[in-house]
Amino acid sequence: MLILHSPLDMHVHLRQGDMLALVAPHTARDFAAAVVMPNLTPPVTSLPQVLAYREEILRVAGESFSPLMTLFFKSYSRAELLAARPHIIGLKLYPAGMTTNSEAGLADMRQAHETLAIMEELDIPLLIHGEGCGFVMDREAVFLPVVAEWARSFPRLRIVLEHVTTCAGVELLDRFDNLFATVTLHHLLITLDDVLGGLMRPHLFCKPVAKRPEDRDALRQAALHHPRAFFGSDTAPHPITAKEAPGCAAGIFSAPVALPALAGLFEELDALDLLQAFVSDRACATYGLTPMAREVRLERRAWTVPERFGSVVPYLAGQTLTWRVVD
Ligand code: NCD
Ligand code: ZN
Repeated sequence: MLILHSPLDMHVHLRQGDMLALVAPHTARDFAAAVVMPNLTPPVTSLPQVLAYREEILRVAGESFSPLMTLFFKSYSRAELLAARPHIIGLKLYPAGMTTNSEAGLADMRQAHETLAIMEELDIPLLIHGEGCGFVMDREAVFLPVVAEWARSFPRLRIVLEHVTTCAGVELLDRFDNLFATVTLHHLLITLDDVLGGLMRPHLFCKPVAKRPEDRDALRQAALHHPRAFFGSDTAPHPITAKEAPGCAAGIFSAPVALPALAGLFEELDALDLLQAFVSDRACATYGLTPMAREVRLERRAWTVPERFGSVVPYLAGQTLTWRVVD
């Protein structure tokens, strides 16, 4: 038996409407709280939208789960951010067009400075989808100088490099005390070979794309040991019709398997004792969170991941996992 205290998923896409009702219970079942991304259509860019979306989530997720809300980064006034601050955990910045529903994102990073300065003053964290224009394998690397410049220019601003995928990203963490990173489950498990090396696997296609074996190794080391790296699944459901299509949508739905698969990996790495820090303690320290006290128990009992949840194919569909969450 493995007991996790208030596990947190620091990066989730819960969507809206029927999809929200389908996927949110999976996150709510296994996590005490989760950071909810704002890339809806239209994006979440105002306090009323934050509050309405939070209500919508609470209606389907139940009372033992806290959604930690984010605002979609754009230019905001100090008054707007001051009003939003009690209701959000941070602002999520998407470079325009880099991923699903990011068309309203930032086209020119220099336009961020004024809002970043207000966020630093108000102590509101910045969460970044860290990819710039360039060859797909290099998009994270080309964006890191921007992250470094902001970490240097705004030393009191907490910056979270979301879903870090590269050695270079992990190395950057060591250069700035105000820089943090989330690490997904799938980037700890797969490389681009799994996505494209044999038959093309649409359900393993996500942004940022999985990288090289050495990058995965660096992510594993960070997940195990880095005090400023913590879990964010980036669970990102799309209906099967959008995944098994000529233009496959980016995103992996990992919520139903996140904790069991992480337990399996940490056990394989002989590091089960480090899982609590990765899935809760370091995120609490970073964000100053005191999540609701919840024990989530996992037992060593094999189960096979369903092929489908409604219209969505989950990550690791059809595979047998050794750990399962006790109901
Ligand atoms: C996410 C989504 O579908 O919203 N997709 C993904 O591949 N990760 C957006 C994101 O986090 O990039
Ligand atoms: Zn995401």
